Amino acid sequence: MIKTNEYIKRRKQLMKIAGKNSITILSSRPALIRNGDVHHYYRQDSDFYYLSGFNEPEAVLVLIPNRTGQQQILFCREVDPKKIIWDGPMVGTQGAVDNYGFDAAFDIKEVDRRLPLLLEGCEKVCFKIGENNEFDQKLAGWVKAIDTRVGEKSNAPEEFMSISHVIHDMRLYKSHTEIKCMKKSADIAASAHIRMMQNCQPGMYEFELQAEYQHQLMRQQSHSSYPPIIGSGENNNIMHYINNNKQMLDGELVLVDAGAEYDYYASDVTRTYPVNGKFSARQKDLYELVLQAQSDAINEVQVGKHWIDFHEAAAKTISQGLLDFKILQGSLDEVLEEKTYTQYYMHMTGHWLGLDVHDVGDYRVDDLWVELEENVVLTVEPGLYISENSKAPKKWRGMGVRIEDDIQVTKKGPVILSKNAPKTVAEIEQTMRG
Ligand code: GLY
Ligand code: MN
Ligand code: MN
Repeated sequence: MIKTNEYIKRRKQLMKIAGKNSITILSSRPALIRNGDVHHYYRQDSDFYYLSGFNEPEAVLVLIPNRTGQQQILFCREVDPKKIIWDGPMVGTQGAVDNYGFDAAFDIKEVDRRLPLLLEGCEKVCFKIGENNEFDQKLAGWVKAIDTRVGEKSNAPEEFMSISHVIHDMRLYKSHTEIKCMKKSADIAASAHIRMMQNCQPGMYEFELQAEYQHQLMRQQSHSSYPPIIGSGENNNIMHYINNNKQMLDGELVLVDAGAEYDYYASDVTRTYPVNGKFSARQKDLYELVLQAQSDAINEVQVGKHWIDFHEAAAKTISQGLLDFKILQGSLDEVLEEKTYTQYYMHMTGHWLGLDVHDVGDYRVDDLWVELEENVVLTVEPGLYISENSKAPKKWRGMGVRIEDDIQVTKKGPVILSKNAPKTVAEIEQTMRG
């Protein structure tokens, strides 16, 4: 659990980067109606949450470094005795100060009156330009209100800066407590993968495996970090398959891409295994090739290596395997240069991971791949997809394998946060035997 002090520290760091004469203003994410009188489960905007830990809609966060006293301010809903009868406890302004470390908090109903006063005298407004049109318009209105009120000489800010990139760069490097949350999230996902492996049987439907996964998450106060992909047989080869409604047959592989979200932090874990619990010779060949590619890629996840290096390692191993299996022809150099392997391995090998599954942070700066640094977290997820419609020899068709783990970059080398999910052929077969 991230403590209040860490949120305060993040806000101070952001104020320092934004500059002395700045004002930073961020809006919470609106609550969304699902249908009729029913809302979607509320999830705060990840940047807003990163800076506040505050999980309610209708809130505005304001940071003003050049102010004495009240620099960190939250506008939020005041506790409404009628509303809490229906929806339960609310934080309220007093709670925002007492439990979220804000210097001051005001009722959101006062935002239109108070924000022009806070903006006055600041030179630069930092906000997430273009992400919420309604909020952008409101902000323009607050700035305009200063002009109107002062009349002759405007004291309104003249500089407007997008702050998203600054926050995203902060989010890229995980603190010790964030890593602990991410480890917990990965452990929960791993326990769900174990439960799915233990319960998997020919004749079951993919959604029955999904039920085992959700059971395991919910009893650990967690939920899905994305709609799980549970694809058997030819569905192995559909990258974004989420229908999960096919019966799983004896002799098929099932690809399960299923992560957890714990205290807002995501894990993203994929395992592929035989529905009947025992790899056939051909399934094993394919699986062990992807496993080798993943291992070669993980070896490249080192401080100072570039973002592309681990992808290139995976692509090289996969390409050599495709040649060895006579699925592709030519030399290794040709396959890599002409990228013919992308017929069977069509995605990159990973992405940043954090509050979002595909987390924020640059992959390239000035056209150069970024270097891996200490305490960034990423996925390593090579795959091989040989669909029934492919040109591969018939004996390989209808199988797909992806293996995905969550990796923390450290000075001592890669740390696999999701290592508790069984992965070798022997580990998987043993888990499935029960
Ligand atoms: N589960 C989404 C991904 O692996 O990127
Ligand atoms: Mn992923
Ligand atoms: Mn995934």
